[in-house]
Amino acid sequence: MAYQTIIEPFRIHSVEPIPMTTREQRQEAIRAAHYNLFQLPARNVMIDLLTDSGTGAMSRDQWAAIQHGDESYAGSPSWEIFETAVHELFGFAHIIPTHQGRAAERILFSVLGGPGKIVPANTHFDTTRANVEYTGAQAVDLPCPEGLDPELSAPFKGNINIAALEQLLTKRAGDIPAVILTVTNNSGGGQPVSMENIRATSMLCHRFGVPLYLDSCRFAENAWFIRLREPGYHTKSVTEIVHEMYSWADGMTMSAKKDPMANIGGWLATNDTAIADQARTMLILTEGFPTYGGLAGRDLEAIAQGLREAVSHDYLHYRISSTAYLGDALEEMDFPVVRPSGGHAIYLDARRLLPHIPALEYPGQALAIALYELGGVRGCEIGSVMFGRAPDGSEHPSTLELVRLAIPRRTYTQSHIDYVVEVCAEVLSIAPSLRGYRITKEPPALRHFSAHFVPKESTD
Ligand SMILES: Cc1ncc(COP(=O)(O)O)c(C=O)c1O
Repeated sequence: MAYQTIIEPFRIHSVEPIPMTTREQRQEAIRAAHYNLFQLPARNVMIDLLTDSGTGAMSRDQWAAIQHGDESYAGSPSWEIFETAVHELFGFAHIIPTHQGRAAERILFSVLGGPGKIVPANTHFDTTRANVEYTGAQAVDLPCPEGLDPELSAPFKGNINIAALEQLLTKRAGDIPAVILTVTNNSGGGQPVSMENIRATSMLCHRFGVPLYLDSCRFAENAWFIRLREPGYHTKSVTEIVHEMYSWADGMTMSAKKDPMANIGGWLATNDTAIADQARTMLILTEGFPTYGGLAGRDLEAIAQGLREAVSHDYLHYRISSTAYLGDALEEMDFPVVRPSGGHAIYLDARRLLPHIPALEYPGQALAIALYELGGVRGCEIGSVMFGRAPDGSEHPSTLELVRLAIPRRTYTQSHIDYVVEVCAEVLSIAPSLRGYRITKEPPALRHFSAHFVPKESTD
């Protein structure tokens, strides 16, 4: 009989202290941060679920690989190790290292984008959308219908809506420089995309002569979900599944801060030599020489080793079941969450929890602040704060009002997660008393990172 306890498939090798704070200290800290969790010093956070990006624990073997880092400006052996590791897993003729995912996006869309262009996706992540829009192009989200219903449990809610994509391609293929599939679909609840959907998207794109790029941060988690949930894949290895996923794509962008388990890094890869040539020119202008991008040789080594660890079945079993552990505990207490549990995060449904707070008084922000004030747990609003401001300056409610509790890789144990569950229970009990917020200051783009808020009743 299989035991129920999820044991972490690692022992702890070195530890970091967690700063303990009181509720009063946290209330003062969040006020001083203008009620913006991104502006909060990390020393004031007890359990940091703001992001799974770059915050995971590196392994003994990654730290050992770092010692092999060769910092030659051109043609370093660390570059060869990195390029081989990326190539073996994903293929692609051209691999272009960058300092993180958004740098790969900026380079790709500065080559492909521009006014009049349209870039469809299952759902664009915030930096992807911002980089598309920055060039004057339009970023269009075409999630599948199941993806829009947070309460519905379906295996592949991250899929793109194939019928809607076909309609758009039929009308505007000439203006569409690429289609993006984000695997897993982060802004759509961390939900996976099926192999069938990847294949269908690829075949459709190629019928119209449009390339398909995968935004690949959580490629291994997505592959694990395919193995668990898609008929025909139970007996395949994750590596085999990844090979098949990428055989359908023409290129990829990557943030190595997620599944590759590095603290920094990313890349752009493509089979298109003309795009690669232009991208490398941009790379040299803004990131660095093409054999290191914006990275140190030691970072390239850590990523190459992280990629090997990311496709381990023991690791992925632990990773996906420990995320589900949090989701299941919340569902059990009737805390509204997006169903089913995502790979890297649990998404709390602030609209259902706080129906008395209008969308443009930011229920997700109110929920995220309550979690912080009550328990020192830092999550991230993914709703009308993040997506409510259009490029033309108008403000409109987001499709979903979520708070993402992202789980850093190999960082927290089950007792930390049990504590988060207790904090959520307290928030649930006081939910009707929570109030909305208004924005007093915001930048022209990506406002969630730096906007200032005040509680709705306040006149500060
Ligand atoms: C789906 C997705 N794409 C792109 C990015 C951007 O990557 P980075 O933070 O490395 O710039 C992220 C980061 O969270 C992401 O989740």
